Parts: sequence; structure tokens; C-alpha cells
Amino acid sequence: MSGKDEYYNKAKQQGYRARSAYKLKQLDETAGLFGPGNTVVDLGAAPGGWLQVAAEEVHEHGTVVGVDRQRIDPLEADNVEYVRGDLTEDSTIDEVVERVGADGEDRPVDVVISDMAPNMTGDYDLDHARSVHLARQAFEVAERVLDSGGDLAVKVFDGKDLADLEADIEAEFEYVRQVRPDASRESSSELYLVAKGYLTAPVREGDTVEVEIVDVGSEGDGIAKVEGFTLFVSGVEEGETVEVRVDDVKPNYAFAQPAE
Ligand SMILES: C[S@@+](CC[C@H](N)C(=O)[O-])C[C@H]1O[C@@H](n2cnc3c(N)ncnc32)[C@H](O)[C@@H]1O
Repeated sequence: MSGKDEYYNKAKQQGYRARSAYKLKQLDETAGLFGPGNTVVDLGAAPGGWLQVAAEEVHEHGTVVGVDRQRIDPLEADNVEYVRGDLTEDSTIDEVVERVGADGEDRPVDVVISDMAPNMTGDYDLDHARSVHLARQAFEVAERVLDSGGDLAVKVFDGKDLADLEADIEAEFEYVRQVRPDASRESSSELYLVAKGYLTAPVREGDTVEVEIVDVGSEGDGIAKVEGFTLFVSGVEEGETVEVRVDDVKPNYAFAQPAE
């Protein structure tokens, strides 16, 4: 039995609308995407296989917002909302942002997932370029709605622009990895970039900033604040003003050391 039949049949038996439901399950198993009570935005959600999986994983007190340019037949689950529109249009992205209540400092979304794919033309370079464009639209949504520490999983077809896309995403998250779920068809060039730990910090790795050491933590590191964000600085004393280089940024704090 081919991989296609196996997952197709399984989806039929288990009541999922699309075999792709198993890709999301595998992404979640590999990368730990969802938790109970999460708010999830699912881009390119029709016919709704991923919505079913995400709605189960976030439980009744979580929320999933499904977006597609095609109509999605509503699910039985009542923790799912729907937005219809083309995500290459700014007005659709604005509608998604508004629907989840993301506004300035308010960033209520825990996970953005995108299974968007272009209509295939058979011209590999063109299909790749369109898929990267859709992935960048998903990245834009993520940047507007994700809470600090949130995750993004986005489908893209392998090809020459993948490395740039991955680097751009990586700059805004703790780390990114490529995942090729078993449930993807063997012949497929699709993969998922799974980015963990969205960074809203005012500093990035490699930045140099002048800070005042305002406290000393339990591990002996100095503590400085940059726009309210905590920097742990090694080898300094409380009360010093020092120029530091940022080495490692986490969603809620970063590590730094004196610049020279
Ligand atoms: C592979 S299907 C998604 C399957 C879905 N994850 C599921 O499990 O049911 C890709 C979807 O992306 C949607 N899509 C592609 N381009 C889009 C765009 N520009 N805006 C919104 N949706 C788009 C398509 O309409 C299609 O429903």
C-alpha cells in the first residue's frame, strides 16, 4: 500500500477531512506546537483537517481561527472561527489581526500554522517562488499576532529561495528547523519550517548596548534592563555602567557580556 493510501484511508476512518491532518499531528509530535487553552491561527485551512487536529489539541477553552480563500464548511467543534479571504491581500491579513484582537502590545496568539500552497503550474521555479511568497505572508501574520515565545510552522516547497526565507524567520525566533513529515507524499518537495520561541525582545544576538547593572541575580550575573527587558550580564558589578554584547536571546530574557 502506498503512503498516500495509508493516510488517505486513515483519515477516512478517523473522520478527518484531509490526509494532511497527519502531517500536523507529526509536526506537533516533533516540535511540540500546541497546548490546552492555546490560541491558534491556521492559514490555508480548507477543507479543515488541520483545524480538526488543532481544535482537539487546544481543548474547548482554546481557540482556532481558520483562514482560506475558499469556503470552509463549519466544523462541529465550537472553538473554531473562520475568516474567508486571500492572504496575499493586506485586507485579509488586517482582518485576521483584528479577529484575534492583536493590537500594538496585545499579542494573543500562541501558534501560527500555514499549509498554504499555490495552484501548481508544473514549472518548478514558479511554483517554488509562489510557495515562498505564501510562506512570507504567513510570516507577516505571525509577526503581527504572535505572543512572545509563540511558534510558527509554515509549509514551503524546497528550492533556491528557501535559505533566505529560513534566515529571515530565524532572526525573529529562538530557532528554526526543517521538518519533513512522513505523511507528506514521498515525491513531494514540500517541507515545513518550524520556528520556535518568537522574540519580541528589543535586542538581538550580536547587538552592542550600554546598560546600567541594576541588580545581581542568584547565579551571580549582573542584571540590566533594556526597555524593561532583562539582560543577564556576566563578570560585572551592581552599579556599573558598561557596554555589553548580546550573545543569546530568549523570549523573556537575554545573556550578554562586557563588549571588550
Ligand atoms: C493543502 S491545502 C490545506 C489543507 C488543510 N491544511 C487541511 O488540513 O485541510 C492548501 C490551502 O491553501 C489555500 N490557499 C492557497 N493560497 C491561498 C491564499 N493566497 N489565501 C488564502 N488561502 C490560500 C487553498 O485554498 C487551500 O485550501
